[in-house]
Amino acid sequence: MPPRSPLIVPSVLPADFARLGDDVAALEKAGVDRIQWDVMDGHFVPNLTFGPDVIAACRSRAAVGFEAHLMVSNPDDLLGRYVEAGCELVIVHAETCTHLHKTLSQIRALGARSGVALNPATGIGAVSHVVDLLDLLLVMTVNPGFGGQAYIAEMEPKIAEARRMIDATGRDIPLEVDGGISSETIGAAAAAGADTFVVGSALFRNPDGIAAQVAECRAILAAATEAEAGSPISAIAGGK
Ligand code: DX5
Repeated sequence: MPPRSPLIVPSVLPADFARLGDDVAALEKAGVDRIQWDVMDGHFVPNLTFGPDVIAACRSRAAVGFEAHLMVSNPDDLLGRYVEAGCELVIVHAETCTHLHKTLSQIRALGARSGVALNPATGIGAVSHVVDLLDLLLVMTVNPGFGGQAYIAEMEPKIAEARRMIDATGRDIPLEVDGGISSETIGAAAAAGADTFVVGSALFRNPDGIAAQVAECRAILAAATEAEAGSPISAIAGGK
């Protein structure tokens, strides 16, 4: 499967909650590929964020796709509400699903794409038996719960393992990373095998604005792809 073009997916967590709809529209204007809503229940993670009504209220402010990253203890009870709110992709944490196979099947039955997120301590083995039900795999590069945390570089071998597992299926399953992604860390995550990048505080704190940070991330990813294509390893791999 040829490598997919990398996607930039901002997290709304660092946005100005007093003008959330405007920020959603600004993210789309900045050319992002999708928008991630970090849904936290104050139980699975020690923070509380977006109910489905908040997302529904912002749905008309942008045409770009929405994904719900459910950091909640009982996701099964909430799946339908987030799909109704306009999320085309629903990501659950493997650590919160007693019946992961059933939960992923339910998300698809609701007409949405299904994703699984893995906390830093959780191995790839947690999804190896439900790969057929995966439309996206998310390797957390921070412990979930807050934005602005440091990227955990020790996750790169796990990203590479996930890349190998996905490539072995021959299916086009996006490999997403989330947490501490910035101009300093996105290149290493891409080199490890990620192709979809959730970016939060790095986008909103760039003094030149969101669009400038998106462009910077894309330039780094393009350079990484070019470097990869030009490397002797890929030359051998490409049989040149
Ligand atoms: C953390 C969330 C992330 C976070 C990303 O639990 O899942 O999406 O908001 O923000 P940064 O990029 O600031 O780490």
